[in-house]
Amino acid sequence: MTDSGLSFYQALAPMYDHLTAGDDYEALGQSLANVLAPVTTGPRLLDVATGTGRSAEIWRRLGYQVIGCDLSFEMLRSANVKRSLAGIPLAACDMRRLPFLSSRFDVVTCVDDAVNHLGDEADLLASFSEARRVLAPGGVYLFDVNSAAAYAWFDEEHVLRHDDSLFVWRGRPAAEPGKHCAEVIALRRTPGGWQGTEGTLTETYFDRKLLRRCLGRAGLTVLGAYGWRDGGLVLSGSEEVGPKTYWVTRVAT
Ligand SMILES: C[S@@+](CC[C@H](N)C(=O)[O-])C[C@H]1O[C@@H](n2cnc3c(N)ncnc32)[C@H](O)[C@@H]1O
Repeated sequence: MTDSGLSFYQALAPMYDHLTAGDDYEALGQSLANVLAPVTTGPRLLDVATGTGRSAEIWRRLGYQVIGCDLSFEMLRSANVKRSLAGIPLAACDMRRLPFLSSRFDVVTCVDDAVNHLGDEADLLASFSEARRVLAPGGVYLFDVNSAAAYAWFDEEHVLRHDDSLFVWRGRPAAEPGKHCAEVIALRRTPGGWQGTEGTLTETYFDRKLLRRCLGRAGLTVLGAYGWRDGGLVLSGSEEVGPKTYWVTRVAT
């Protein structure tokens, strides 16, 4: 993640859950659980880029023994005060260098717009290799990436409103191929008035060929790539279905 991206998440942390309150994590979590259940071999789960722990909450409710980690200390601080996450260990670290012993987990997850914060193929390979290293034999790595359709949206201007929060988004393709940049203003109405922050997010689009190459080099076998349609996950073959693709992979034998 760029320094400005990290600063933005640090400042966004107290507002993050309000701004994402409209996202249906329950439906997504249940669908992902249905995909994970037949392929996972144990309950020990590392939620990489857990942020304020919204994804970690879902995995815990589904019965996994969760540890969360994230690059942003402030996002983790917001996670740390949630009762629903009490007892879940949290670690501040970069997904390219995980501070965990090898073969420590049965499942590694990294969902909702985290992998695209990586800068290039070397970063992608480093993060996949680390996920592979901390997985036990037969372990499963699940992550999502934004599709080309998501970046068509990303590159435009939007004003998003949800109850007492407001997101002003001004995106554009960056000069470097595959990079996308957005100036973002996030505001939340509090009893004391509007509070907000602004920042710049830079993301990288990774196509399927590149993702498959890095997964293979990291020692991960693709079990399936899923898109989101009509409120559920669908196997998306070579086509991208919806704004994200969810990759389910396993430690190669
Ligand atoms: C949109 S949030 C998603 C958080 C959470 N998984 C969820 O579902 O709500 C993306 C998170 O990725 C984290 N992140 C970005 N780059 C990272 C990196 N290199 N290592 C670890 N975390 C990173 C950010 O700090 C941020 O908390």
